[in-house]
Amino acid sequence: MPLFDVYPLYEVEPTRARGVYVYDQKGTKYLDLYGGHAVISIGHGHRTYKRMLKKQLHRIGFYSNAVQNPLQEKLSAEINRQSGCTDYELFMCSSGAEANENALKLASFHTGKSRVIAFDNAFHGRTSAAVAATDNKNIQAPLNAQQKVDFIPFNDADALEKELAKGDVCAVIFEAIQGVGGLDEPTAAFVAQMETLCENHQACLIADEVQSGFGRSGDFFAFQKYNIKPHIISIAKGMGNGFPVGGILVNPVIKAKYGMLGTTFGGNHLACSASLAVLQVLEKEKLYDHAKAMGEYFIERAKELPFVKTIKGRGLMLGLEFEKEVGALRKELIFKHRIFTGGSSNKNLIRILPPLNVKQKHLDQLFTALNACH
Ligand SMILES: Cc1ncc(COP(=O)(O)O)c(C=O)c1O
Repeated sequence: MPLFDVYPLYEVEPTRARGVYVYDQKGTKYLDLYGGHAVISIGHGHRTYKRMLKKQLHRIGFYSNAVQNPLQEKLSAEINRQSGCTDYELFMCSSGAEANENALKLASFHTGKSRVIAFDNAFHGRTSAAVAATDNKNIQAPLNAQQKVDFIPFNDADALEKELAKGDVCAVIFEAIQGVGGLDEPTAAFVAQMETLCENHQACLIADEVQSGFGRSGDFFAFQKYNIKPHIISIAKGMGNGFPVGGILVNPVIKAKYGMLGTTFGGNHLACSASLAVLQVLEKEKLYDHAKAMGEYFIERAKELPFVKTIKGRGLMLGLEFEKEVGALRKELIFKHRIFTGGSSNKNLIRILPPLNVKQKHLDQLFTALNACH
């Protein structure tokens, strides 16, 4: 049976990975500055990660959410402690889209309303409400048109107020640093206005931290650069370092009710262990501060490149914008210099999303390669 052909694939077949490197079947070594799309947080094949998953696998890998699983409480307490978002509650699922789907659904349950406000260039996933809140017509099917979503630009408080004043908005969903959209960020003033306007108009503010969370921005969550308290925070990607796990942190003003949300796989024993391992390593290896320092180093070095038009992002969620499209450059980086980078919906931008324990010497390798390509 052929594979359903939805992915344009690079001719590379990773068969092994360790730290910031992946290796193909011939043993060729590639520097991973893409992290498998911002997923690899603590590095490939980390010792603690392997040890904890293996131990859990030998005990129990999975049982349903109909029974006690204290690992979920342990994980919830650890996320509360490390993130400083102390009075949230955790619901677990298995992917970023599912996290946002549940976040939007919960906002609708809570407010009794159904329209969503999202932002230009937003990406929130490929499921029903999440894809409708994604600013890309090409990935929306006619079926998705049943959702009521309107897009406005970042930093347009008047437009936001006008929409919220209509009284039918259940949620405003935003990425503090846009991922797929190309690393744009709202201003601090606008983020504060979003919070106030949502409060005034009884709408939920949802921070989509699927890509930017778990230390990638240098803070636990990218929105924590601002003094706000979203109603719901969605998480996935770096949370599991490759194990499929996601979730939402829910402000307790939103009350849980039996049956309101649910999942078969979400929060299983292996998923919790993977995420507990990630948190243990993030803290022990001080990867929040490290990501911040590496981001600052990257930005300083990138300023030396005359062919780079704009440097975007922070921590290890970074983008380099060029005057022309970067498709050919990214291919050259892979096949000539053996470096993986990411693309975005901005065709002129490469994304840098390495494991959070990447070192200066690895970033230097990219700068040497970029200079050689120009
Ligand atoms: C900000 C953001 N939200 C949601 C998603 C969807 O996550 P997933 O692919 O795990 O469903 C992504 C994926 O790239 C993302 O970047």
